[in-house]
Amino acid sequence: MKADWSRRADENIGALLLDAPAIRKRVHELGDQITGDYRGRNPHLIAILKGACIFHADLVRAIDLSLSMDFIAVGSYGNAARTSGEVRLLKDLDESVEGRDVLLVEDILDTGLTVHYILQNLGSRGPRSLKVVTLLNKPSHRQVDVPVDYVGFEIPDHFVVGYGLDFKQRYRNLPEIRILSREALGG
Ligand code: IMP
Repeated sequence: MKADWSRRADENIGALLLDAPAIRKRVHELGDQITGDYRGRNPHLIAILKGACIFHADLVRAIDLSLSMDFIAVGSYGNAARTSGEVRLLKDLDESVEGRDVLLVEDILDTGLTVHYILQNLGSRGPRSLKVVTLLNKPSHRQVDVPVDYVGFEIPDHFVVGYGLDFKQRYRNLPEIRILSREALGG
């Protein structure tokens, strides 16, 4: 990684897909919807690391309820732009989900393998309810059907970065979401 990299100056990242105000607006709409749907309950929002951490951080602050949080990490992509099709647990939850209203928070649904694996895993631990919120849905490469309860944006088949999403661990700190250029993907 170049030491002098500036997210604002690097024009090779790629075209803008969703700017920060559009993301903020949609995250607040999702927060309002979740607040209404879970009224009278205390949802337990589980972020899938690392990609969902920024979305999760903004979403929990847009929900006007007493809630709790946890984090889970799975491996699927490694450092490449393509999935290996294999999912493995890298970091388990800190707390039990038994009897809780779990809302799984994902950054992007691509093949669906990651969320499918986690839903099966968490489903066997006795949560009271188990739902999924994803900021982005990229349905073109779906390999398994996954039930998604809340979607921020449907996006076309592009590799995107920013707002938590990375390419080779870079670009997560972009405040907007960009389509990674062919030059950046190849370089
Ligand atoms: P899935 O298992 O194929 O649904 O992939 C989900 C994971 O792949 C996400 O949590 C992301 O980490 C990663 N991923 C899928 N598409 C993209 C993308 O366009 N940009 C960055 N990461 C992606």
